Amino acid sequence: MTVLQTLKRRRSVPRFEPDGLLLTRELIEEMIAESCLVPSDFNLQPWRFIVVRDRERKEILYDCAYRQEKVRQASAVVIVCGDSKGDARAEEEVASSVRDGAMTREAADHLVASVCRSYQGNELARFTLAVREPAFAAMALMLLATERGIGSSPIGRFDDEVLRKAFAIPDRYFPVLLVALGLQALDMPVPARGNRLPPSVVVFHEGMGDAEP
Ligand SMILES: Cc1cc2nc3c(=O)[nH]c(=O)nc-3n(C[C@H](O)[C@H](O)[C@H](O)COP(=O)(O)O)c2cc1C
Repeated sequence: MTVLQTLKRRRSVPRFEPDGLLLTRELIEEMIAESCLVPSDFNLQPWRFIVVRDRERKEILYDCAYRQEKVRQASAVVIVCGDSKGDARAEEEVASSVRDGAMTREAADHLVASVCRSYQGNELARFTLAVREPAFAAMALMLLATERGIGSSPIGRFDDEVLRKAFAIPDRYFPVLLVALGLQALDMPVPARGNRLPPSVVVFHEGMGDAEP
Protein backbone atom coordinates (compact mmCIF):
# COMPACT_ATOMS: atom_id res chain seq x y z
CA MET A 1 0.00 0.00 0.00
CA THR A 2 1.31 3.47 -0.83
CA VAL A 3 1.21 6.22 1.78
CA LEU A 4 -1.71 7.79 -0.08
CA GLN A 5 -3.62 4.50 -0.20
CA THR A 6 -3.07 4.03 3.53
CA LEU A 7 -4.19 7.59 4.27
CA LYS A 8 -7.33 7.04 2.22
CA ARG A 9 -8.09 3.68 3.80
CA ARG A 10 -7.65 4.86 7.41
CA ARG A 11 -10.93 5.85 8.96
CA SER A 12 -12.05 6.41 12.51
CA VAL A 13 -13.88 3.17 13.21
CA PRO A 14 -17.34 3.97 14.64
CA ARG A 15 -17.67 0.63 16.43
CA PHE A 16 -15.38 -2.31 17.11
CA GLU A 17 -16.29 -5.99 17.41
CA PRO A 18 -15.86 -6.47 21.16
CA ASP A 19 -12.43 -8.07 21.64
CA GLY A 20 -12.55 -8.88 17.93
CA LEU A 21 -8.81 -9.24 17.50
CA LEU A 22 -6.03 -10.70 19.55
CA LEU A 23 -3.51 -7.89 19.63
CA THR A 24 -0.59 -9.29 21.50
CA ARG A 25 1.67 -7.24 23.69
CA GLU A 26 4.50 -8.05 21.27
CA LEU A 27 2.57 -6.88 18.18
CA ILE A 28 1.59 -3.60 19.83
CA GLU A 29 5.14 -2.99 21.00
CA GLU A 30 6.35 -3.67 17.45
CA MET A 31 3.85 -1.18 16.03
CA ILE A 32 4.77 1.42 18.62
CA ALA A 33 8.47 0.95 17.87
CA GLU A 34 7.69 1.56 14.19
CA SER A 35 5.59 4.62 15.08
CA CYS A 36 8.62 6.06 16.81
CA LEU A 37 10.31 6.44 13.43
CA VAL A 38 8.50 9.79 13.18
CA PRO A 39 10.69 12.88 13.62
CA SER A 40 11.16 14.79 16.85
CA ASP A 41 12.97 18.02 17.59
CA PHE A 42 16.63 17.23 18.40
CA ASN A 43 15.49 13.59 18.38
CA LEU A 44 14.21 14.17 21.92
CA GLN A 45 11.43 11.58 21.45
CA PRO A 46 9.07 13.14 24.01
CA TRP A 47 6.46 10.38 23.70
CA ARG A 48 5.37 7.63 26.05
CA PHE A 49 2.70 4.99 25.51
CA ILE A 50 0.47 3.16 27.94
CA VAL A 51 -0.94 0.00 26.38
CA VAL A 52 -4.30 -1.07 27.80
CA ARG A 53 -5.41 -4.58 26.84
CA ASP A 54 -6.83 -5.94 30.07
CA ARG A 55 -10.65 -5.99 30.10
CA GLU A 56 -10.95 -4.45 33.57
CA ARG A 57 -8.45 -1.73 32.77
CA LYS A 58 -10.40 -0.96 29.57
CA GLU A 59 -13.56 -0.56 31.67
CA ILE A 60 -11.74 2.02 33.76
CA LEU A 61 -10.52 3.76 30.63
CA TYR A 62 -14.08 3.68 29.27
CA ASP A 63 -15.19 5.70 32.30
CA CYS A 64 -12.30 8.14 31.81
CA ALA A 65 -13.41 8.62 28.17
CA TYR A 66 -16.97 9.62 29.07
CA ARG A 67 -18.22 6.10 28.45
CA GLN A 68 -17.47 5.99 24.75
CA GLU A 69 -18.29 2.40 23.81
CA LYS A 70 -15.36 2.15 21.44
CA VAL A 71 -12.99 2.17 24.36
CA ARG A 72 -14.35 -1.01 25.93
CA GLN A 73 -15.00 -2.69 22.55
CA ALA A 74 -11.47 -2.13 21.25
CA SER A 75 -9.00 -4.98 21.53
CA ALA A 76 -6.43 -2.54 22.86
CA VAL A 77 -6.21 1.16 23.55
CA VAL A 78 -2.94 3.04 23.56
CA ILE A 79 -2.77 6.16 25.71
CA VAL A 80 -0.29 8.37 23.90
CA CYS A 81 1.44 10.75 26.30
CA GLY A 82 3.87 13.62 25.87
CA ASP A 83 6.77 14.47 28.14
CA SER A 84 6.63 18.10 29.30
CA LYS A 85 10.28 17.79 30.25
CA GLY A 86 11.28 16.25 26.94
CA ASP A 87 14.30 18.55 26.71
CA ALA A 88 15.73 16.99 29.88
CA ARG A 89 17.09 14.04 27.94
CA ALA A 90 19.21 16.11 25.55
CA GLU A 91 22.45 15.03 27.24
CA GLU A 92 21.36 11.40 27.28
CA GLU A 93 20.46 11.65 23.59
CA VAL A 94 23.86 12.96 22.52
CA ALA A 95 25.82 10.73 24.90
CA SER A 96 25.09 7.60 22.86
CA SER A 97 26.13 9.37 19.63
CA VAL A 98 29.40 10.44 21.27
CA ARG A 99 29.97 6.91 22.58
CA ASP A 100 29.33 5.44 19.12
CA GLY A 101 31.73 7.94 17.56
CA ALA A 102 28.89 9.42 15.50
CA MET A 103 29.38 12.85 17.12
CA THR A 104 32.30 14.70 18.66
CA ARG A 105 32.03 15.83 22.28
CA GLU A 106 32.28 19.42 21.05
CA ALA A 107 29.38 19.00 18.62
CA ALA A 108 27.38 17.28 21.36
CA ASP A 109 27.94 20.18 23.77
CA HIS A 110 26.87 22.59 21.05
CA LEU A 111 23.68 20.60 20.49
CA VAL A 112 22.83 20.39 24.18
CA ALA A 113 23.31 24.17 24.43
CA SER A 114 20.91 24.61 21.49
CA VAL A 115 18.29 22.45 23.22
CA CYS A 116 18.67 24.56 26.39
CA ARG A 117 18.28 27.78 24.41
CA SER A 118 15.13 26.43 22.75
CA TYR A 119 13.38 25.04 25.80
CA GLN A 120 14.72 26.29 29.10
CA GLY A 121 12.30 28.73 30.70
CA ASN A 122 10.03 28.50 27.66
CA GLU A 123 6.91 26.71 28.84
CA LEU A 124 5.09 27.21 25.54
CA ALA A 125 7.91 25.50 23.64
CA ARG A 126 7.94 22.65 26.15
CA PHE A 127 4.19 22.22 25.94
CA THR A 128 4.31 22.27 22.15
CA LEU A 129 7.03 19.61 22.18
CA ALA A 130 4.94 17.45 24.50
CA VAL A 131 1.91 17.56 22.23
CA ARG A 132 3.29 17.86 18.69
CA GLU A 133 5.68 14.94 18.54
CA PRO A 134 3.39 12.43 20.31
CA ALA A 135 0.66 13.43 17.83
CA PHE A 136 2.98 12.43 14.97
CA ALA A 137 3.53 9.06 16.66
CA ALA A 138 -0.20 8.56 17.22
CA MET A 139 -0.87 9.25 13.54
CA ALA A 140 1.84 6.82 12.51
CA LEU A 141 0.35 4.19 14.81
CA MET A 142 -3.05 4.54 13.12
CA LEU A 143 -1.48 4.28 9.65
CA LEU A 144 0.54 1.22 10.67
CA ALA A 145 -2.65 -0.35 12.00
CA THR A 146 -4.41 0.37 8.70
CA GLU A 147 -1.57 -1.25 6.79
CA ARG A 148 -2.03 -4.39 8.90
CA GLY A 149 -5.82 -4.45 8.45
CA ILE A 150 -6.40 -3.35 12.05
CA GLY A 151 -9.12 -0.76 12.63
CA SER A 152 -8.34 2.31 14.69
CA SER A 153 -9.92 5.39 16.15
CA PRO A 154 -8.39 8.44 17.77
CA ILE A 155 -10.17 9.44 20.96
CA GLY A 156 -9.51 12.88 22.36
CA ARG A 157 -12.51 13.23 24.61
CA PHE A 158 -11.47 12.05 28.05
CA ASP A 159 -11.25 13.48 31.53
CA ASP A 160 -7.60 14.35 31.92
CA GLU A 161 -7.63 14.40 35.70
CA VAL A 162 -9.51 11.12 36.12
CA LEU A 163 -7.32 9.43 33.50
CA ARG A 164 -4.12 10.58 35.18
CA LYS A 165 -5.26 9.18 38.48
CA ALA A 166 -6.53 5.88 37.10
CA PHE A 167 -3.38 5.17 35.11
CA ALA A 168 -0.82 6.65 37.49
CA ILE A 169 0.37 9.27 35.00
CA PRO A 170 2.81 11.68 36.70
CA ASP A 171 2.26 15.45 36.31
CA ARG A 172 5.23 15.63 33.99
CA TYR A 173 3.36 13.73 31.25
CA PHE A 174 0.37 14.89 29.19
CA PRO A 175 -2.15 12.34 27.97
CA VAL A 176 -2.42 13.60 24.39
CA LEU A 177 -4.68 11.06 22.68
CA LEU A 178 -6.12 7.58 23.04
CA VAL A 179 -5.71 5.33 20.02
CA ALA A 180 -8.25 2.51 20.05
CA LEU A 181 -7.31 -0.54 17.99
CA GLY A 182 -9.38 -3.53 16.97
CA LEU A 183 -11.64 -5.17 14.44
CA GLN A 184 -14.13 -2.83 12.86
CA ALA A 185 -17.67 -4.05 13.65
CA LEU A 186 -18.86 -6.16 10.75
CA ASP A 187 -22.43 -4.86 10.95
CA MET A 188 -21.56 -1.18 10.96
CA PRO A 189 -19.80 0.20 7.90
CA VAL A 190 -17.85 3.39 8.38
CA PRO A 191 -20.01 6.28 7.16
CA ALA A 192 -18.86 8.33 4.17
CA ARG A 193 -15.87 10.42 5.07
CA GLY A 194 -16.64 13.99 6.04
CA ASN A 195 -15.54 16.51 3.44
CA ARG A 196 -12.15 18.05 3.87
CA LEU A 197 -11.69 21.78 3.45
CA PRO A 198 -10.30 22.53 -0.02
CA PRO A 199 -6.85 24.07 -0.68
CA SER A 200 -8.58 27.37 -1.53
CA VAL A 201 -9.54 27.60 2.17
CA VAL A 202 -6.62 25.99 3.97
CA VAL A 203 -3.60 26.92 1.83
CA PHE A 204 -1.90 30.31 1.82
CA HIS A 205 1.10 31.14 -0.27
CA GLU A 206 4.08 33.03 1.08
CA GLY A 207 2.16 34.44 4.04
CA MET A 208 -1.27 34.65 5.60
CA GLY A 209 -1.85 38.31 4.80
CA ASP A 210 -5.24 37.73 3.16
CA ALA A 211 -6.59 35.47 5.95
CA GLU A 212 -9.61 36.49 7.96
CA PRO A 213 -8.35 38.03 11.18
C1 LIG B 1 -7.66 14.77 18.22
C2 LIG B 1 -8.85 13.94 17.85
C3 LIG B 1 -9.77 13.62 18.81
C4 LIG B 1 -10.85 12.79 18.49
N1 LIG B 1 -11.68 12.39 19.48
C5 LIG B 1 -12.66 11.52 19.21
C6 LIG B 1 -13.45 11.00 20.26
O1 LIG B 1 -13.27 11.32 21.42
N2 LIG B 1 -14.42 10.11 19.93
C7 LIG B 1 -14.63 9.70 18.64
O2 LIG B 1 -15.52 8.87 18.42
N3 LIG B 1 -13.87 10.17 17.62
C8 LIG B 1 -12.89 11.05 17.87
N4 LIG B 1 -12.10 11.52 16.86
C9 LIG B 1 -12.32 11.06 15.48
C10 LIG B 1 -12.88 12.18 14.57
O3 LIG B 1 -14.23 12.36 14.83
C11 LIG B 1 -12.61 11.78 13.11
O4 LIG B 1 -11.22 11.72 12.93
C12 LIG B 1 -13.21 12.77 12.12
O5 LIG B 1 -14.58 12.75 12.17
C13 LIG B 1 -12.76 12.46 10.70
O6 LIG B 1 -13.11 11.12 10.34
P1 LIG B 1 -12.01 10.09 9.83
O7 LIG B 1 -10.99 9.96 10.94
O8 LIG B 1 -12.75 8.79 9.61
O9 LIG B 1 -11.40 10.62 8.57
C14 LIG B 1 -11.02 12.34 17.15
C15 LIG B 1 -10.10 12.71 16.18
C16 LIG B 1 -9.01 13.47 16.51
C17 LIG B 1 -8.01 13.81 15.47
